[in-house]
Amino acid sequence: MTFPSRRLRRLRRTPALRRLVAESQLTQNDLIAPLFVREGITEPQPIESLPGVMQHTQASLLDEVRQLRDLGIPGVILFGVPQHKDAEGSEAWNPSGVVQVALNELRADLGDDIVVMADLCVDEYTDHGHCGIVGGDGHVDNDATLEIYARIAQAQADAGAHVVAPSGMMDGQVAAIRAGLDQAGHTEIPILAYSAKYASALYGPFRDAVDVTIVGGGDRKAYQQDWHNSREALEEIRFDLDEGADMIMVKPAVTYLDIIAAAREITDVPIAAYHVSGEYSMIKAAAANGWIDGPAAALEQLTAVKRAGADMILTYFAREIAETL
Ligand code: PBG
Repeated sequence: MTFPSRRLRRLRRTPALRRLVAESQLTQNDLIAPLFVREGITEPQPIESLPGVMQHTQASLLDEVRQLRDLGIPGVILFGVPQHKDAEGSEAWNPSGVVQVALNELRADLGDDIVVMADLCVDEYTDHGHCGIVGGDGHVDNDATLEIYARIAQAQADAGAHVVAPSGMMDGQVAAIRAGLDQAGHTEIPILAYSAKYASALYGPFRDAVDVTIVGGGDRKAYQQDWHNSREALEEIRFDLDEGADMIMVKPAVTYLDIIAAAREITDVPIAAYHVSGEYSMIKAAAANGWIDGPAAALEQLTAVKRAGADMILTYFAREIAETL
């Protein structure tokens, strides 16, 4: 047979040939591990809907981050579960709040060995579960929330965060945080902006992990993006870049590969994608039933996220994947 398409299968014949022509490759250098640290516990607590992931004590967190460093993972991102929640989420900027304590301890032990990022939001810290200050009309007040985000950024940077990552989807949050950091002398701290973050049904297990219930059965559709839209994501990304974002993020990942690919077309800054809790748990649950090969499905999905154009991936599989790569 001499038809030209004959050559496609020639390059798939052996594992080494396939490796040679592979266009995208997932390595441990692409991975950021999301980690939960909870105040007031003495033993790490498993999270039922996120098999293999823990709410850490300060001590078990340190141990975990040391191991991730040893596996060659370059970054972690911290989420705090405070004992005390209030209307503003004030524990989020308390210098002795759970994440600030963790940042101090991790930096004291690990220095610059691994990039320690802090998620910057208040939903884990507010008694109503929203990502900002709720105004009289029941909506999250954009500008009042920006003020507290700037305070949190300063507290996180003071405590040793290498990077702050605002995830609240308020308009103007990157500009407010950049100004707050600069005023406090933290001109060198980069912002990883959760720019295109959708109001997804895939965050359920995360909300178990951080003990968040949105008051009155509410949702985040008045600030997170509507998943009917894609051009709007590019608007979000352009504004964040104009406001000074150093890196941008698309979230979730696999349902939003089109957004990652479109983002890659419009910017050369590093792009992160968040393979979220529901994406992880779906694979874990199907694998536990023997319905799919879990590790193979995880590698396929995460490689697809890179293929779409992401430079780094926040994933609960970070440790497991790094152990096999
Ligand atoms: C907000 C935040 C959320 C996630 C990361 N940051 C939850 C939300 O927006 O409701 C979800 C991550 C995941 O599902 O893994 N602080």
